[in-house]
Amino acid sequence: MNNTQAGGTAVLILAAGRGTRLRSRLPKVLHRAGGDTLLGHVLGAARGAGIADANIAVVAGFGADQVSVALGAHAAAPQVIVQEPQLGTGHAVQVAAGWWRAYERLIVLNGDMPLLSATTVAALAGEVKDMAGAAAVLATASPAEPRPYGRIIRDAAHPERVLAIVEDRQTTPEQAQIRELNAGFYSFRTSALGPALALLGRDNPHGEYYLTDVVALLAGAGEGVAALPLTDPDECLGVNDRAELAQLDRRLRRRKAAQLMAAGVSLENPETIDMDAGVTAGMDTVIEPGVRLLGATRIGETCRIGAGSILTDCELGDGVVVRPYSVLESARVEAGAQIGPFSRLRPGAVIGAAAHVGNFVEVKNTRLGARSKANHLAYLGDATVGEDTNIGAGAITCNYDGHHKHATQIGSGSFVGSNATLVAPVAIGDGAFIAAASVVTEDVPADALAVGRGRQQNKPGWAARRRRR
Ligand code: UD1
Ligand code: CA
Repeated sequence: MNNTQAGGTAVLILAAGRGTRLRSRLPKVLHRAGGDTLLGHVLGAARGAGIADANIAVVAGFGADQVSVALGAHAAAPQVIVQEPQLGTGHAVQVAAGWWRAYERLIVLNGDMPLLSATTVAALAGEVKDMAGAAAVLATASPAEPRPYGRIIRDAAHPERVLAIVEDRQTTPEQAQIRELNAGFYSFRTSALGPALALLGRDNPHGEYYLTDVVALLAGAGEGVAALPLTDPDECLGVNDRAELAQLDRRLRRRKAAQLMAAGVSLENPETIDMDAGVTAGMDTVIEPGVRLLGATRIGETCRIGAGSILTDCELGDGVVVRPYSVLESARVEAGAQIGPFSRLRPGAVIGAAAHVGNFVEVKNTRLGARSKANHLAYLGDATVGEDTNIGAGAITCNYDGHHKHATQIGSGSFVGSNATLVAPVAIGDGAFIAAASVVTEDVPADALAVGRGRQQNKPGWAARRRRR
């Protein structure tokens, strides 16, 4: 039946299950841990092993539409194969047979195991080739603690041969003692897999077609089945409920922390720091307790990220200091700039080299030039500020007229006095000086002084007279 083989290795990720115990409208594989979905982590392991997306497919069922959206609609994205209804892991592989039949080998991965490593997938991809004749290779794990996983039955006379996998609920008391477990990652020769799948029955406690029964069918037909013991048995830790999800989230973040520390980044109280998988940081950067680094945040060398700060999708050059409790999102901060404490950088904020943004300053869609300072209580929105300019305490760009956003331009070497109100659209030239508390509605030429406020009057004796009344 496999005379149309095109060769090569395909990866099939099983992700059709609902994950009932998560009690969620979201399919299990789209729950997040360590900054990515469970499916995203498994996909990452396959990609990391050098498998191209064109050779990866995902079996989806419960929430298949959501899975498709998550994978992206572009032509190169992994294919989604719908399994409806979900009659077990063997059925899931069978439903996809039209897709994998053209390949020589098929790697099958349970989709709910985010600690799976690229090394393991690469080993599975390489192993069948090396073990000439093996129709299947199964990753196995022997953790210290018991888990309700399938048990690996080896041939007593030829221990290198696997004879069967017995599911947890079907073991004899003797088999229940077996410590070697089925990890849920397999590599099959497709020419042997197809006929074995066709023979699967569903005479078991769940009434499902078990992929694991394929092993006994292959072994019984004289095919070789080999085991690939995992060095880290935690690679096959799965997620069944929200408590396990939280545990794996912590483990993934701990793994990320270990990677960064190995790369020369100091983490103070690492267990209090949250980092997503895509985060990078350079040598001699220090990250203080309670920091969250999310999304694709990239941090340069010798930076310091202050306690309690949250950075999402940000890019920081070398030597940047973010003081405590700052919140930065989709912002770029160039070398040597200082942010915080208590600063807020919103999307499109670009802070130039050695510039300062201080206490309770909010910056949105604004470029603040090199060495410019906005140190206290200011709002800069839809603005460009040149170099060496000082933005005084409480200065505000009025960028929104209730209908539209307007731009403010502030030149280099200028001085915007405290509490100035800049009503956009407005432009302030290089070297200009805005008097404190001015309301600026007209452009200010370079090197000019703008005063836009009521003149002060002093009324002698007025306060004393009032007190006597
Ligand atoms: C499975 C293995 C077990 C192994 C364990 C490791 C079987 C029968 N048993 O059990 O030997 O030790 O993994 O965790 O395979 N899925 C589908 N379609 C279905 C059913 C499941 O796509 O009809 C997907 C699930 O979404 C999940 C994966 O297959 O990602 C594994 O299914 P699950 O029901 O979690 O199997 P386990 O009981 O964990
Ligand atoms: Ca499972």
